[in-house]
Amino acid sequence: MMRVLGIETSCDETGIAVYDDELGLLSHTLYSQVKLHADYGGVVPELASRDHVRKIVPLVKQALAEANCTFDDIDGVAYTKGPGLVGALLVGACMGRALAYSWDKPAIGVHHMEGHLLAPMLEDDVPAFPFLALLVSGGHSMLVGVEGIGKYEVLGESVDDAAGEAFDKTAKLMGLDYPGGPRLSKLAAEGETGHYRFPRPMTDKPGLNFSFSGLKTFAANTIAKEPDDHQTRANIALAFEEAVVDTLSIKCRRALTQTGYQNLVIAGGVSANTRLRSSLAEMMTFLGGKVYYPRGEFCTDNGAMIAYAGLQRLKAGQMDDLGVKGVPRWPLDTLPPV
Ligand code: KG4
Ligand code: ZN
Repeated sequence: MMRVLGIETSCDETGIAVYDDELGLLSHTLYSQVKLHADYGGVVPELASRDHVRKIVPLVKQALAEANCTFDDIDGVAYTKGPGLVGALLVGACMGRALAYSWDKPAIGVHHMEGHLLAPMLEDDVPAFPFLALLVSGGHSMLVGVEGIGKYEVLGESVDDAAGEAFDKTAKLMGLDYPGGPRLSKLAAEGETGHYRFPRPMTDKPGLNFSFSGLKTFAANTIAKEPDDHQTRANIALAFEEAVVDTLSIKCRRALTQTGYQNLVIAGGVSANTRLRSSLAEMMTFLGGKVYYPRGEFCTDNGAMIAYAGLQRLKAGQMDDLGVKGVPRWPLDTLPPV
């Protein structure tokens, strides 16, 4: 039996959780800095670091209390080591490393995208290896062939903006507050289809990479020449969302054909998008496979996915030394297998 405290501070969410390999998730706490950054239209790194410092201790205490355990019951500590904002990462890394040292327990620095990739494992119906993973967050978009934990092959990734970033930037052009992704999606639900058609970038040539920055420019040009009323904006939002979802679906299908995998996992903030979920679910039914995704609150950043991923590695005897490290850029396919 093993019980791990997980700490996530890579961006603008402080997430803490306690995960037990027999009992499952015992507690998870989250503080979102969304309101703090909204005035600036995006995450301000220095403010993010300071807010993590403010919130991390009370949230750790709360997570331990809600899990009904003391540090004696914790067998290891997992914290997000990267990729992310270096100052924000260092807050979690310092806390995780220091707690583990004082409790005399092992600590491990977790790759944030591995956390997202394994988040569907927190649900009852878990995908079996191997599978294709579509990771779509605010900072990354990638297609990964997953043979097992730590056995990752990055098949394609964004050459410019991440999918979530494209949502956020387009939402900003439409005057929606940060983070615009969910807001744009809500506006799109009021849109009428067929008024506008956005391009499906990089779908006409072979390969599994993405490019989303052109969609933002296309949106800017469309917004500039069309009337500025609610219905028009909703129609544009819908056309944008359809283009992103279509592009992601086309690339997933291509990657499934290439790999021969039957199962698809979607994770990261944009996997909360209902149009994306239903498009991929429909496609997988057609292909005779299945799509897996985490519950809504575990699509975006959280401590539970970090506790889960860290536990898998700690259980296999992997751990980090006493150094406190934040790794802003960290290729996923350099991780050791478990
Ligand atoms: O995974 P995440 O919480 O943070 C990163 O690791 O980046 O992802 C946040 C991103 C933001 O860009 C946000 O706008 C987007 O996920 N997002 C959505 C939705 N919910 C979150 N995008 C589209 N539709 C949604 N429902
Ligand atoms: Zn994330």
